[in-house]
Amino acid sequence: MKVLLVGSGGREHAIAMAIKQSAEEPTLYAAMRYKNPGIARLCEDYLLVNETDVQKVADYAKSADLVVIGPEAPLAAGAVDVLNDRGVRAFGPTRQAALIESDKGWTRSFMSRQGIRGCPKYALFDDLRDADRFVKDNIDEGNLVIKPVGLTGGKGVVIVSSYSEGSDYLKKLKGPVVIEECLSGEEFTVQAFVDGNVVAPAPAVQDHKRAFEGDLGPNTGGMGSYTDKSYVLPFMDEGDYRAAIAIMQDTVDALKSSGMTYKGILYGQFMLTRAGLMVVEYNCRFGDPEAMNVLPLLRSDFVELAESAIDGTLKSTDYELLATVCKYVVPAGYPANPKPTEITIDKDQINATLFYASVDEHDGTIVTTTSRALAVLGVADTIDDAEQQAEHALQFIKGDVFARHDIGKRELVQSRIEHMKRIREGS
Ligand code: AMP
Ligand code: GLY
Repeated sequence: MKVLLVGSGGREHAIAMAIKQSAEEPTLYAAMRYKNPGIARLCEDYLLVNETDVQKVADYAKSADLVVIGPEAPLAAGAVDVLNDRGVRAFGPTRQAALIESDKGWTRSFMSRQGIRGCPKYALFDDLRDADRFVKDNIDEGNLVIKPVGLTGGKGVVIVSSYSEGSDYLKKLKGPVVIEECLSGEEFTVQAFVDGNVVAPAPAVQDHKRAFEGDLGPNTGGMGSYTDKSYVLPFMDEGDYRAAIAIMQDTVDALKSSGMTYKGILYGQFMLTRAGLMVVEYNCRFGDPEAMNVLPLLRSDFVELAESAIDGTLKSTDYELLATVCKYVVPAGYPANPKPTEITIDKDQINATLFYASVDEHDGTIVTTTSRALAVLGVADTIDDAEQQAEHALQFIKGDVFARHDIGKRELVQSRIEHMKRIREGS
């Protein structure tokens, strides 16, 4: 069996590993923007291509039995539709179903029209002058969140606390935008295989979006993430997790009844607030880094799951329950002024899983790009032990790079628990 993987990040390296573990013993091919050395090593052959050039990807996919699409951009560009038109089986939502991520305005309207729980108060603007006026009229009520409706690589969302801040940000945008009430609480992610009807969820993960320790600095694609030895995180209870799955199920059902059957991975980003569980956003693919936490725990066969999602015969997924801590290594200056740099990795010393992301390999030398470079994953019985494994591995990665050492540390996990306690108590 031939499987083509589209994408070149850390998430796709994790997907590639999961595909290679399949009992189908697939031969792996990849269509990548740059040569991810981790993926390249697992592949029979690869094509370097702009991943949103879906025609070129489809040309390359001609003899594939299955195409797995990792990132949102090719999905939003209609990769699944083009592949299906050419008779190639592809795992991921169609362009229309991918609107759930590619158009945040559409998604908020859909959620409120369908009465799906957890939709924050929002307003949608095509004309940014109207958006500016809205900020002026409403900022006294509390912070506002401004989001370009389209894909921004996780970096487009800005929380503003004054009219001038909001107005300045809007001047940098082209529109349209969604403006939302600012939610306050603890966030978690649930990623699920979906076959149009059945939602088969993975353990909850918490990502760390801010660039610097202590949750400071600008938003990034995600600096690292953890799971507990459980489906839930230490600041959550089972009821929170079940409520999240129920919202995802309602969303999948509503999409189906609107003629937009959703197949692929659905990623729900939730916030536990004083007012209950809210949907921060949906993504139409695995998270990066969150895929690196859950895929190594997946006991079910990835290829079988992808095929059953396509066929509408998905039943359930099985995960080994273990704590995981994933930490990204990024070039100095990331995300504002990243400086590509050479890195050395002493692989023999690393006792953790290593995922390559945005790096180029030339004659055995690893050079970062301007994005997240590589990630390490610790897996253990406790978050503490998984964190120490990840930290130990970081010592053997050298270069002008940094990582968030606080992710998964006991103090940070404890502060999440206390934060949530304060939120629930309303103090
Ligand atoms: P998104 O790209 O929508 O996931 O947004 C990125 C991050 O911005 C989220 O993970 C949240 O931390 C934050 N965010 C998005 N929407 C809101 C909101 N309505 N209130 C507070 N924070 C938000
Ligand atoms: N880590 C956030 C995302 O993949 O969207």
